[in-house]
Parts: sequence; C-alpha cells; structure tokens
Amino acid sequence: MTHEKLQQQIKQLAAEKNALLIAHNYERDEIQEIADITGDSLALSIEAQNTDKQVIVFCGVHFMAESAAILAPEKTVLLPRADAGCPMADMVTATGLQELKRQHPDAAVVTYVNSSAAVKAESDICCTSSNAVSVARSVTAKKLLLVPDRNLGRYIASKVPEKECICWEGFCPTHDQLTVAEIEQAKADHPDALFMVHPECQPEVLALADHICSTSGMYEFASNNPAKKFIVGTENGILWRLRKENPDKEFIMPSKVLVCPDMKLTRLEDILRCLEKMEPRITVADDIRVKAKQALDKMLAVPRD
Ligand code: 13P
Ligand code: SF4
Repeated sequence: MTHEKLQQQIKQLAAEKNALLIAHNYERDEIQEIADITGDSLALSIEAQNTDKQVIVFCGVHFMAESAAILAPEKTVLLPRADAGCPMADMVTATGLQELKRQHPDAAVVTYVNSSAAVKAESDICCTSSNAVSVARSVTAKKLLLVPDRNLGRYIASKVPEKECICWEGFCPTHDQLTVAEIEQAKADHPDALFMVHPECQPEVLALADHICSTSGMYEFASNNPAKKFIVGTENGILWRLRKENPDKEFIMPSKVLVCPDMKLTRLEDILRCLEKMEPRITVADDIRVKAKQALDKMLAVPRD
C-alpha cells in the first residue's frame, strides 16, 4: 500500500477511535506529516496530559509513551512498536540508582525523562533537554545526582557551578558519536553556517556550538535567527519540519551517524495495526506510577529556560 493510502486509513481510524496521534521530532517524515502534534519530549508529555481525547497513539520510544501513561493513567496510551526503546534509558536501573543514592544521601536526584518509570520513581525531579538548567537551579540541595546522560549532566554542571554534580555514565549511542572533526569539517565547508546542537552530544562538540538546545529549541532558533544556513547536531528526523518551516534556509547534517535506530522503527503500517487492535498498550503499575508522577509534576511546575 502507498504512504498516501496508509496515511488516509490512519487518519480515518484515528478519528473513529477519538485518538490523538502524536509524534516525536525524530520520527519518519511520513509519520510527522499526519501527526496531530509533533514536538520534543516535554511538549508531548504536556499534550498527552492536557488532551480531551481518550486514546493517545505515541509515535516515539518506550519511555515517552510511559511518561504519557504516568501523567494520564485514565487514558489509553498506545506505542505502535513495543520494541522501540532508548538505549540511554536502559543504561540505568532503579537498583543501580538506589545504590548511588546510598553513597550520596545528601544529594537530590535529577533524572532526564529518557529513563524508565522505575528510575523516575527513585528521583526527586525529572528534566528534559529543554528545561534541564532551570530544573537544576530550582532544586535547593547543593549536591545533584544527574541521571542517566553524562553529556547532558556535564552540560548542566557547567551552568550551575554553585552545585556539586555527580553524573551517571550513560549516553546516547547516536548523539555521542558526533565528533569534533565532523563539526570542524562542516564549518570549513560552510563558513557562513551557525551550528546548533543537542546537549546529548559530547562536551567538546558542544564547545563548538552557536546554540545548545532541545529539538524544539532548534525550530525556534532556526526560524528566529536571520542566518540562512545551519549545521544540525541532532537526529536527522528533525530536518522535515526545519525545512518545511524555513523553505529559504539550508540545513546541513554534519555526519551520517545522526540516525536513531529506535526512532526509525515505527512505520505507517505499525500505526494502522496499532489502531485496529488497540495495542501495544503501555501501562505503569500504580506503586511506581504515583512516585514517578511526583518527579514529573515537580518538573512541570518549574518555569521553562
Ligand atoms: P528532546 O528532549 O529534545 O525531545 O530529545 C529527546 C531525545 O531522545 C533526544 O535524543
Ligand atoms: Fe535515546 Fe538517543 Fe534515540 Fe534519543 S536519539 S531516543 S536518547 S537513543
């Protein structure tokens, strides 16, 4: 079946089932084209909580759908591909975090939303790449455990020098691969381009950036900045909307490594099947959900950067 035919069938079935189709900024183009909402992790969590619709089809990876299920337990949250995970989220477990907390009983745990519900339940507050610095500043403790991304952790630490920060040694296998040499080459090829980058990249790469931000922050920066060329330091799914919203601007990918295999798992066929069968459904056990929700709610109460 063609993309167009599948897209039509999905839209029709989503309307019949009163389902909201949401897609992360890294999803395939043909999925972003039909989504009711596209966005970053924070924006999508808020939409999932606020929507009147009873069914949420979350085109993204497992932790994102789990966040929606934590915030809106009365809704049916569907993840079209149950095997779409996040290797970074899998790099920390609740028992591992409990052990670190025992070693640092005076520290507050700030956990990136790229984490399981069980890890969130062990945390004081969550953050996303778009509010991480504000969240860290909002915490009164002088010592922070930043979990699980060491690169985001080091970035936060550089912005809150008044706090002692201990970073978990997790990383994103996609963003962590981007190298200084690739950025230097892209800058040499395009000396008039600005470099915007996601904080999941290594500190040496962030040091070369004109702007460090979440995926949604990149849309804002590209639209509001008068520059005509941008080097993009994040997953290549972001190009669809960047190009759509800025047809007169050029966006350059500095590396072939910037593809997240998990984000690319979901296809239109998976979304159609998921709506037909109303599965796979993502739920979180109440004992974990309530504690994880406290960490997410605290994050949502912090004003944005
Ligand atoms: P955002 O917080 O920008 O949506 O990024 C999520 C993510 O998985 C980045 O790799
Ligand atoms: Fe996880 Fe990296 Fe993929 Fe984001 S890009 S979902 S952090 S593996």
